[in-house]
Amino acid sequence: MQYFRLVLQWGVFAAGLIFHSYSYAEHSSALSVLKIYKTPTCGCCGKWLKHLEDQGVFHQAIDLADLSATKKRLNILPRYQSCHTGVSEHGYVFEGHVPAKFIKQFLKAPIKGAIGLSVPSMPLGSPGMEVGKRFHPYQVLLLMPDGSHTVFAEVKRYEEQF
Ligand code: CU
Ligand code: CU
Repeated sequence: MQYFRLVLQWGVFAAGLIFHSYSYAEHSSALSVLKIYKTPTCGCCGKWLKHLEDQGVFHQAIDLADLSATKKRLNILPRYQSCHTGVSEHGYVFEGHVPAKFIKQFLKAPIKGAIGLSVPSMPLGSPGMEVGKRFHPYQVLLLMPDGSHTVFAEVKRYEEQF
């Protein structure tokens, strides 16, 4: 009986381990590694990368002297551009100071046919653009290849970014 109980305990333990590694695999595939194209001198880019790290979005930064060719190749029109450009493993684009929360949301359920998300320009108080407690409301846009966009998220308050 004692032996049986031991076997049972180990069985439960092993099943727990298998389940744990399975859910981890599922988790990590949802949070793929982003390639981030940025210029070496940009301070707010570095702060945004720190934000991604804090929120569990893995990335690889690539410094380029000029990003215009990259943005053109990825079909990000000038009116949607910002200081840095993230690209997911499946080629989805995250342009500018997009909060990690929306990147995760998008990567969990990618919108087929879309280019990706953009926060054009650099809104004050967005992740990486903190200046004291100042905050300007902004929109996270969903970009389409024909140059149009829809609003993916509306960010009205600082706290809504996390
Ligand atoms: Cu910036
Ligand atoms: Cu930047």
